[in-house]
Amino acid sequence: MKLRLRIKRGTVKEERYDSFEIEVSEGMTFLSALQKIKEEIDPSLTFRQFCRAGICGTCAITINGFPKLACREQVLPYAMLEEEVTLEPLEKFPVIRDLAIDSSDMVTEMKRLRSWIREFSGEVRIPPELSRRIEKSADCILCLACQSHCPQILEEEYLGPLYFAKLYRFLEDPRDQEGEKRLEIAVEEGNLYHCLSCNKCNNVCPKDVEPATLIRELMTYTDTDGQGK
Ligand code: FES
Repeated sequence: MKLRLRIKRGTVKEERYDSFEIEVSEGMTFLSALQKIKEEIDPSLTFRQFCRAGICGTCAITINGFPKLACREQVLPYAMLEEEVTLEPLEKFPVIRDLAIDSSDMVTEMKRLRSWIREFSGEVRIPPELSRRIEKSADCILCLACQSHCPQILEEEYLGPLYFAKLYRFLEDPRDQEGEKRLEIAVEEGNLYHCLSCNKCNNVCPKDVEPATLIRELMTYTDTDGQGK
């Protein structure tokens, strides 16, 4: 069986689409397909990969308009439709080349929000029920699929689902002592209440973090004026 791919190439200044056709093998993912093209047809094809196991989040690309982890998405169901599949870089990020985006702003933002446990000392017991609640948020692999698919990201001041999901984890985690501050950032600097609650981020998150659900949870920590309770 053959798979026909239409891949966005180049940079924002000079972009084009190239078509490729490859033989599909059993268990082939889009990342394996890209690797095959790079090895056998066009060595200049640029994309990101690292763990190849759905853990590092670096291989996220847009497949037929939806953000997916290339290393987890199987090509077979697409090949069976016998239609050309379009691969593009994640939307809303600067493109370095082909499918590789520049995600350095995300790292800067994570540092600004101090997305790690702050001021922890001593021993804290976390009940299993709370651990399960935190787990969802902690499962985020920073693949940026949610940010890419969120319609509200076009509004510059809106922080976005990825960061709110992270903030939720630290707000709930009893080892973190900056809950109030984080809530303030979410509401005032991140415009938490600008979330459209469209659930698009929930639908595309490859780790089922459900950022939109966590955003709604975050809102329950604030009073009707959007201030911390
Ligand atoms: Fe790490 Fe795909 S290569 S998540």
